[in-house]
Amino acid sequence: MHHFDYQAGELCCEQVPLRVIAEATGTPCYVYSHATLRRHYRVFDEALGDLRHLICFSAKANSNGAVLAALGRLGAGVDIVSGGELERALRAGIPAHKIVFSGVGKQAGEVAQALSAEILLLNVESEAELELIAGVAATLRRRAPVALRVNPDVDPQTHPYIATGLRESKFGIPIADARRVYERALALPQLDVCGLDCHIGSQLTSVQPLVDSLGALVELIDVLRARGVHLRYLDIGGGLGIRYADESPPTPDEYGAAVRALLRRLAAPELTVICEPGRVIVGNAGVLLTRVVYYKDSGHKRFLIVDAAMNDLLRPSLYGAFHEIKLAALADGANRPHGPVDVVGPICESGDFLAKDRDLPAVEPGALLAIMSAGAYGFSMASSYNSRPRPAEVMVDAEAWAVVRERETVDDLMRGERLPPWLR
Ligand code: LLP
Repeated sequence: MHHFDYQAGELCCEQVPLRVIAEATGTPCYVYSHATLRRHYRVFDEALGDLRHLICFSAKANSNGAVLAALGRLGAGVDIVSGGELERALRAGIPAHKIVFSGVGKQAGEVAQALSAEILLLNVESEAELELIAGVAATLRRRAPVALRVNPDVDPQTHPYIATGLRESKFGIPIADARRVYERALALPQLDVCGLDCHIGSQLTSVQPLVDSLGALVELIDVLRARGVHLRYLDIGGGLGIRYADESPPTPDEYGAAVRALLRRLAAPELTVICEPGRVIVGNAGVLLTRVVYYKDSGHKRFLIVDAAMNDLLRPSLYGAFHEIKLAALADGANRPHGPVDVVGPICESGDFLAKDRDLPAVEPGALLAIMSAGAYGFSMASSYNSRPRPAEVMVDAEAWAVVRERETVDDLMRGERLPPWLR
């Protein structure tokens, strides 16, 4: 469910025609729907029902300050993976006690930053990291709240680049070693061993891998309880998929029901379940607007060359991901021949495409297109490759809209660059 619909032949975000935004801000431009964000957050929250829970939105999916602030207003916490994301979350007004820190390569400076801010917990991914955190905590004379991220060796049946719960992946502590690593952690007085964490992958389209991994977590919690260790947090990660094309991922309700059924048995007054959804909250809440620059027919292939490229939206190039493309004005497609076209950007690589062999009308230059489902891992993965300033970002709320990040300028791109003395 999202709030991008045609009204009188024009694609609108809530009440605002995308044309109006494109005319004012230029293209490419990301547009986010506040109503969709709110709706997705609430549906996810309600799906978890009376299970005591905290939703920590995964900032890597979209770390724009307005998106974080909008979710923060609804009560969300944030899942971060860097000192940069910590700073963004805090500046967006997310309370530190709702921030969890994941990631395999946390550095001492980032750990110190997190401990000083007094975040909720750090998800620890290796024994070496455990020792590092204990050392930093000792220096700061603080106790570090930690959860161990375990790797359950479950196949999440998703794209290999975003599968994280298989034993050959770099993430987490092998579940078979977890008991031993908990003992080590419990022996370090600088650590408050308060949680267990697991995230098996992203864009999950079946609930079964999640059920399998949760089953393993429940067993581990039983073992720890028998040992007298009563954890306060069970972080079940993110990963719930969305519909880009013809996938049928579990609904938040189905996901919530499965989670509640598995975890009911664990119910204990001290236990809070943490979820780290990213894509399911923001994916369908955003589109990327782009204009057609040229139509080109090579005789073998037809191309729409547009002003957005792989630097703006990397997912098609990196994962072969499908994003639906819609005309902002239906009239642009009227009486134009339809057929398979590649929608490509101006970047000097054949890997620079946004869609392949898509059945679209051969629209005229200037036509405005909306690349759908681009709210997650869109802007957050954008780069300035080919010295292309990153797009503007806009948020819509009913009839109102506002630029929530200005388009980068070429000056922004060159900030900090200088000639060495011998070239001056
Ligand atoms: N928690 C952890 C520890 C994660 O690594 C991730 C995503 C999430 C939560 C959020 O997962 P989500 O609910 O969004 O599936 N760039 C890729 C996705 C990478 C996901 C990385 N980790 C893409 O564009 O598909």
